[in-house]
Amino acid sequence: MTLTDQQQLVRDWLARRNAILLAHNYQPPEIQDIADFLGDSLALSITAAKTPAEVIVFAGVHFMAETAAILCPDKTVLLPRLDAGCFMADTITPEALKARKAQLPGVPVVTYVNSSAAVKAESDICCTSANAVKVVNSLTESRVLMVPDRNLALYTAARTDKEVLYWEGCCNIHDALTAREVQDCRAAHPEALFLAHPECRPEVLALADAIRSTSGMLAYVRQSPAMEFIIGTEMGILHTLQKQNPEKIFYSPSRNLLCPDMKRISLDDIVLALKENRYQITLPDDIRLKARKAVERMLAVPRD
Ligand code: 13P
Ligand code: SF4
Repeated sequence: MTLTDQQQLVRDWLARRNAILLAHNYQPPEIQDIADFLGDSLALSITAAKTPAEVIVFAGVHFMAETAAILCPDKTVLLPRLDAGCFMADTITPEALKARKAQLPGVPVVTYVNSSAAVKAESDICCTSANAVKVVNSLTESRVLMVPDRNLALYTAARTDKEVLYWEGCCNIHDALTAREVQDCRAAHPEALFLAHPECRPEVLALADAIRSTSGMLAYVRQSPAMEFIIGTEMGILHTLQKQNPEKIFYSPSRNLLCPDMKRISLDDIVLALKENRYQITLPDDIRLKARKAVERMLAVPRD
């Protein structure tokens, strides 16, 4: 692939700083194309934990860079834009979680990684969209509290024998997708399979041929003999889907499946981040160590 001048400049700065560029599947195409690693939240955490690079530049949102800082205290973790936040992560605070925990003694808290480090620090174990059911089933207790995503909790509840209590949080982008929009898209493309992200509402998930994390969708499409897919997640993933499967056709069921926070970082921001060492994500030790326990406990849950 031929790089643009700006993409080459990013790669040059990454080499100069012994840095790795980790990008989420929703990032803008020009960033996805030059990332050292592109993935979902689970794969990005695993890669951050293992990298020998001195500097990690996170092209994603704040909680993802925080997860890297939790796992890699000796590395420099840079988030090129501090305003790359997450609506869902903001639906819960550590104080509110503490108050709920006080009402539920003995009930373990399973926290979706789309949350602040301070919230993770109040949790027993973390999960991602790729491993939520396995994480819940790994616990010995018969009742759990899942925070902050109501939809991921309902999805998990339907796939475990445990009682799952939930928080009233959500991703405003996925939660806004309606069953009607999916049905209309299906009517227009009757041959297409519908893939949904577990952050979607239950009535949307009920229509899905498969429910997957973002990287799970990429893997599903690669091995599927189907030629057309309706993609029920943020539309940034369509870039890599199309690149990896040039002969297949992809549809977004809604024009609103676009997360502004995932589009904040530009190539220029990444160059500035590497030049000026900004914005460095650090955490107080007490929060970092408690959050690390919850993240590492998740990473220890066996995968397939
Ligand atoms: P995954 O990539 O882990 O499926 O998460 C989706 C998401 O909303 C991240 O912000
Ligand atoms: Fe947060 Fe939703 Fe955007 Fe993901 S898509 S970063 S969950 S607001």
